[in-house]
Amino acid sequence: TPGTPASPPEVPSADSFAFAFDIDGVLLRGGRPIPEAIEAMKVLNGENEYGMKIPYIFLTNGGGKTEAERCIDLSRQLDIEVSPAQFICGHTPMREMVEKYHTVLVVGGEGEKCREVAEGYGFRDVITPGDIIKDNEATTPFRRLTNEERKNSRKRDYGSTKIEAIFVFADSRDWAGDIQIMLDLAMSKGGYIGTLSETFDEGIPIYFSHSDIVWSAAHDNVRLGMGALRRMVEMLFKDLTKGKELETIAFGKPQIGTFEFATRLLQQWRKDEHHINRPPETVYFVGDTPESDIKGTNQFNEKAKNTWYSILVRTGVYQEGTEPAYKPMATVDTVLDAVRHGMEREF
Ligand code: G3P
Ligand code: MG
Repeated sequence: TPGTPASPPEVPSADSFAFAFDIDGVLLRGGRPIPEAIEAMKVLNGENEYGMKIPYIFLTNGGGKTEAERCIDLSRQLDIEVSPAQFICGHTPMREMVEKYHTVLVVGGEGEKCREVAEGYGFRDVITPGDIIKDNEATTPFRRLTNEERKNSRKRDYGSTKIEAIFVFADSRDWAGDIQIMLDLAMSKGGYIGTLSETFDEGIPIYFSHSDIVWSAAHDNVRLGMGALRRMVEMLFKDLTKGKELETIAFGKPQIGTFEFATRLLQQWRKDEHHINRPPETVYFVGDTPESDIKGTNQFNEKAKNTWYSILVRTGVYQEGTEPAYKPMATVDTVLDAVRHGMEREF
């Protein structure tokens, strides 16, 4: 129409397939981009020989910040715009538990960050280990709160407070103190801090946002992750109770529920951002950890009628020359090769 400025031509979106990316060990190492990741994102955003955009989402077990904050970081790190509508982290599905529990202990992360995340999800009464230490400093003989922590921690009468569940949102910054407090509650009479059960079967549920024993950070070798903390808590519970089993619950990959959550998010994202109204025929999942990324994708694929396809990269946890515990449908060097592999199968 005369008078209206010409808008740039719309880049069409490929509608039959999509990508989902793990973050640590695939796109980032220790918060810095893996060089090929930047190029891979450009290719997906339309800089390819087909002139097409390809829909994608992120699915990380990491956490410790709000999804919005994490997307701001990721946008800067990868030089693209990432929306919370295409992002799931380990604790994202925990928001579906807010109605179930009133008072919860939230463990992990920097300072007050995870309390903020939990409250943002709608958890009504969020306690942190710092609150419990402030109330009784004898809880953790070798951990003194910093002035900042003392200022933020909330004092209350724990004798009369029932903690209904524990949620480990992000990696613990103080394993000794956090394990102590988690075990205190697991061995308590129904979640009252300071009590000790005689039977050790009155503890409260403990949820971990994922179960990765190791992950790929800045160091050349893998580093201990939240799954290692989980194992410590379970093993110590058994030792301290002369053989009782502590059953904890994990979210994140490789849990099927996480992939179902991802499927719903991807469907909405394709609809809102790419105007595609049908499910993709194939979702390429690119990961570095056989035990969570490949196991989860392959298991979910069986349920999802052969629509998920696992690609393992060599930039993270998986070490070339070893036999991956779960067999990927393809193994490539980097995330850029993974994107090319998927595109070659499609076009
Ligand atoms: O703490 C995060 C780590 O265990 C895994 O993150 O992105 O590889 O799923 P990611
Ligand atoms: Mg990873």
